[in-house]
Amino acid sequence: MTTPPNERAGSVVILAAGLGQRMRSARPKVLHALCGRPMIAWVLDVALALDPERIVVVTGHGAEEVEAAVRALGHGSRVRFVRQEPQLGTGHALQVCLSELGADPGVTVVLYGDMPCLKPATARALVATQRARAAGGLALLTALPDEPRGFGRILRDARGAVTGIVEERDATPAERAIEEVNLGVYAFDGPGLVAALPQLSNANAQGEYYLTDVLAAFVGQGRRVEAVEVDDLDEALGVNTLAHLAEARWSLQLRILEAHLESGVAIEDPATTYVDHGVEIGAGTRILPCTVIRAGVRIGRDCEVGPFAQLRAGAVLEDGAEIGNFVEVKNTRVGPHAKAKHLAYLGDGQIGARSNIGAGTIFANYDGVQKHTTRLGERVFVGSGSVIVAPNVIGDGATTGAGAIVTRDSNIGAGEVWVGVPAKPLAKKAGGAGGAAQERRP
Ligand code: UD1
Ligand code: CA
Repeated sequence: MTTPPNERAGSVVILAAGLGQRMRSARPKVLHALCGRPMIAWVLDVALALDPERIVVVTGHGAEEVEAAVRALGHGSRVRFVRQEPQLGTGHALQVCLSELGADPGVTVVLYGDMPCLKPATARALVATQRARAAGGLALLTALPDEPRGFGRILRDARGAVTGIVEERDATPAERAIEEVNLGVYAFDGPGLVAALPQLSNANAQGEYYLTDVLAAFVGQGRRVEAVEVDDLDEALGVNTLAHLAEARWSLQLRILEAHLESGVAIEDPATTYVDHGVEIGAGTRILPCTVIRAGVRIGRDCEVGPFAQLRAGAVLEDGAEIGNFVEVKNTRVGPHAKAKHLAYLGDGQIGARSNIGAGTIFANYDGVQKHTTRLGERVFVGSGSVIVAPNVIGDGATTGAGAIVTRDSNIGAGEVWVGVPAKPLAKKAGGAGGAAQERRP
């Protein structure tokens, strides 16, 4: 998607140096997972949507881990990292970026790393507002949440013009009663920001340099300030605790499910369906309740998944495949119209078109040291309760009997029938119909 010039930022700075103490976790806050990707990936999406000349990520607590995660997302060449040590506040986090920003960083958008639900379109609209109505000044996002929990409050004068932001901890009781809050998303005039940052003071309740004080400085200089109110309060979710993380996950999950519903995927019960970010699902596919579909899964058209199915990374369902209850699929390609309807583990495999996997089948892919692959041809019939020990190959049209234990490297030929423990091939009785099948000598 191309970003129109009026919605494009010069620079984006993502603040991600904080400890996130209230998460009660050793993991850096911005690396907690939300729908199959770290929190910061969602914020990077917003930054990229602004198509800026530079993206700066400020790291501190867990800096190496955070930087490695951003690189693992493929953004290593697009992002510059600045270390903030120690962390002396959100204003200080911008001060340490001054040399990266230079004298004129263009319209500079600041995003907090703990706001994963902000929509790219909202950030683009904020930039457009700065350019149209607050050129030389700043535009910021505000909201009117039911509960202002911990947010800075927006101060306005008698005529309604924004004059400042007061942090909850510094606020008088009257200021605390203000319902309009600061979301921590700003689009600043670049040179104005660069000039204001060195002037910040830390004379406040937390002894920190507050980025929010730049707003008062702008007002003092007669620069324009525009507040843009978000009406979807989910976007305002700042994640400070694991409970907030769960709220953010649900909000993002609904967005993902709504996009699939719009593209023709029938999801019977969104409330019990987990689909990670980036999963491809073809139109006409039905997802039944209590199903978990992780990142890195691809599902074709007219498939059926669930109820109670789990598709993990590397699962690929070709058109018309069916995965039923209590079936786990990992790193396995399930061919067109192949079926595994009940109680199975299919790991590290390939299953050809129209094969049928009986109830209770296991691809025993792990020998305690290494993972191995199971390959099934087309129209294979795997009897109920079969264990196929990998590595193994089963040819087109072959059959395993119920309860067969197919030991490793059995490599069953096309059309053969193997039964028993350990499984052995059945020979067709010479002379035609009737009579019990005999064991064939290897
Ligand atoms: C901040 C705002 C507040 C706003 C709220 C919205 C300030 C002074 N206050 O408060 O007005 O309502 O966000 O969520 O800005 N960070 C750093 N380095 C630091 C401090 C923080 O990188 O030295 C990062 C944190 O990792 C986090 C973000 O900045 O991603 C916000 O910091 P946090 O301490 O959570 O700010 P709040 O107290 O929530
Ligand atoms: Ca916060």
